Amino acid sequence: MLLPMAAMATEVKSPNGNVVLNFTIDDGRPTYTLSYKGKDVVRPSHLGLELAKDKHASMGMNERDLMDDFTLVKEETSTFDETWQPVWGETRDIRNHYVEYVATLLQQWRSAPPKAPSGMRLQPRQHRREILIRFRVYDDGIGFRYEFPQQPDLNYFLIKDERTEFAMAGDHTAWWLPGDYDTQEQETQETKLSEIRNRMKEAVNWDNSSVAVFSETGVQTSLQMKSDDGLYINIHEAACADYATMHLELVDAETTELTTKLMGGSNAYTPAPSTVPGGSPAGSYPLPQPFTFVSHLTPDATGLKGAMQTPCETPWRTIIVSDDARDMLSSNLILNLNEPCKLEDTSWIHPTKYCGVWWEMIVGKSSWNYTDEFPSIKLDNIDWKKVKPNGRHAANNEKVKRYIDFAAKNGLDQVLVEGWNVGWEDWANMWKRDVFDFQTPYPDFDIQMLNDYAHSKGVKILMHHETSSSTQNYERHMEKAFQLMNKYGYDAVKTGYVGDIIPRGDHHYSQSMNNHYLYVVKEAAKHHIMVNAHEATRPTGLCRTYPNLVGNESARGTEYEAFGGSRPDHTCILPFTRLQGGPMDYTPGIFVTRLNTWSDNTSWARITIAGSLALYLTMYSPLQMAADLPEHYEQFDDAFQFIRDVACDWDESIYLEAEPADYITVARKAKGTDNWFIGGKCDENGHKTNIKLDFLDKGKKYDCTIYADAKGAHYETNPQAYTITKRVVKQGDVLKLTEAPGGGFAVSLMAK
Ligand code: NOJ
Ligand code: CA
Repeated sequence: MLLPMAAMATEVKSPNGNVVLNFTIDDGRPTYTLSYKGKDVVRPSHLGLELAKDKHASMGMNERDLMDDFTLVKEETSTFDETWQPVWGETRDIRNHYVEYVATLLQQWRSAPPKAPSGMRLQPRQHRREILIRFRVYDDGIGFRYEFPQQPDLNYFLIKDERTEFAMAGDHTAWWLPGDYDTQEQETQETKLSEIRNRMKEAVNWDNSSVAVFSETGVQTSLQMKSDDGLYINIHEAACADYATMHLELVDAETTELTTKLMGGSNAYTPAPSTVPGGSPAGSYPLPQPFTFVSHLTPDATGLKGAMQTPCETPWRTIIVSDDARDMLSSNLILNLNEPCKLEDTSWIHPTKYCGVWWEMIVGKSSWNYTDEFPSIKLDNIDWKKVKPNGRHAANNEKVKRYIDFAAKNGLDQVLVEGWNVGWEDWANMWKRDVFDFQTPYPDFDIQMLNDYAHSKGVKILMHHETSSSTQNYERHMEKAFQLMNKYGYDAVKTGYVGDIIPRGDHHYSQSMNNHYLYVVKEAAKHHIMVNAHEATRPTGLCRTYPNLVGNESARGTEYEAFGGSRPDHTCILPFTRLQGGPMDYTPGIFVTRLNTWSDNTSWARITIAGSLALYLTMYSPLQMAADLPEHYEQFDDAFQFIRDVACDWDESIYLEAEPADYITVARKAKGTDNWFIGGKCDENGHKTNIKLDFLDKGKKYDCTIYADAKGAHYETNPQAYTITKRVVKQGDVLKLTEAPGGGFAVSLMAK
């Protein structure tokens, strides 16, 4: 028998002592605090989960909340220190060094005696169950998760919501996105925590094709904050698998209860919260103090947040903290909390630079669809050879060959071709289930000839599977679609999840959808296919375990430069937020920023050419696109040289300067070489920097090429003004550089 322990807080220090966790049971509720160099990061915060009642309760479903009445029965502490090598990444080696603390908690209660025939007296039943809370304390933050061992009183259970609290120590500045069950493609807001509520409505981009905002103080993770006393704090999650994606709901001075009130959006089929079966009555647990974030999971079509079977665990809840913003960017805490690689053979996974038949469709100059002849189509009923072409279809033999030639000439590995397969005539937002088969090319796309042509030039075609969120349809066709890729020699697929989820009512970030995305990655791995998923859930470091997940969009990408534009500081925020969980397929490289110079699109990209080059360094990804048209790159071939040269896999990365939403400067050493590349990107205010080259090898000389904003360059009025300077440098030399408003710079240092 394990005996309850005295209610004294346990202190756990990180290896260097800077990060200190305290854990205790406070009146039956698990409670933790966190500090960094003696400053409060998280004030006393409760941990727990509310469970839902279910019609199967009598068959062993457990509905008693995992919130209170806990006693601490066991504590274990250990240390771990290991260095591992990612298949691709920002550095060759990653150190995973932490102190682990595991608390075993016991909950006991008696249930009413079962109904008995008259005259008989039955005994009340005694229940007991244990859960574990596992903390890992690093020098740059913590991760913790709930673990549920298998036991008679905790076998199957339904989650009404997770109630993990993060009580902030003040009214921090936060860089946040509206919490949303279906989209992450929003512009980041910069406000005090106390201002989130008033900013919420205007913060939402209601035009996105799937929006479900759940609370006036609901925000997404990864959430970056800065305290008035100079702490950088980031809340996110790691290893989110078989579980719903977490958002955060802020308790502020006006909060009266934590309940979901959908604020509108395109998903009109979301059931009202009242249809959520059972659970504890709202408000039965006291509200935490203002400035506390409470976890809020993404519901499924029934409104529930999770269906669990023990043994199981939640994802890790992560808090990264430092007094130096650069540590936010170099942190490996989230990757470290993920499981090691599960793929035995990873030799087929490789970094990839690509261009694509893409931007001209996004901009509206050409089309994904082949014909405009019909008001709608049914895939089985069309003889594509007899259909009248619209003359704007981009994925045609001639154009694709032109892109292949461009890729071959410029050392790009792959060419993405979107709109190659039938179904684009009425693909989005029609609640149409059988929308694509992912196998039948349009008549003007000769799949055999084009792949042969590409391979003969050392280039591959990058597959595209837009699912339009019809997930059952995709799962039904996927095996054949992957076989087709194997047959023609494709080794990478870009997937997409535009629009509301079909089957209707489900959300992009629910447990079942998260299972779908991971299923696709695992099935793809069996076929040696790399995956780059757009509109899928935000990454949580699963690419460590499945390194064929080489990219995700999961944020507002470059496509928005054609949909009204993103603020110039956007790319100075993303590395602090979205990129915490894994690389982003941001699709940079727009050189001709005024789209009306070559199309009818009046939108424009808010960046200079030198700034665009910087993104290949500051937005780390093993998959990098050169997104603009070949003819635009040909006009600026001297600047394009940087894209030809730049690596996308690294032995070393050093963040030289950083401040969220202001500027980021990073130096990276290309994998397996002595060459370095440096990139700096800034916001609308411009930035001046002195880079000391003390990281170069002693005694070596480097051919240094500097691509910088020219005098007078400006993202709005003069984006194409750049200079290219060449010199020879050595360790200790200093580069003095000026970044224009909305600009940046890129430097290549080739060892002589
Ligand atoms: C949205 C993706 O982000 C974009 O890259 C793609 O071209 C379209 N969906 C069509 O699939
Ligand atoms: Ca998108």
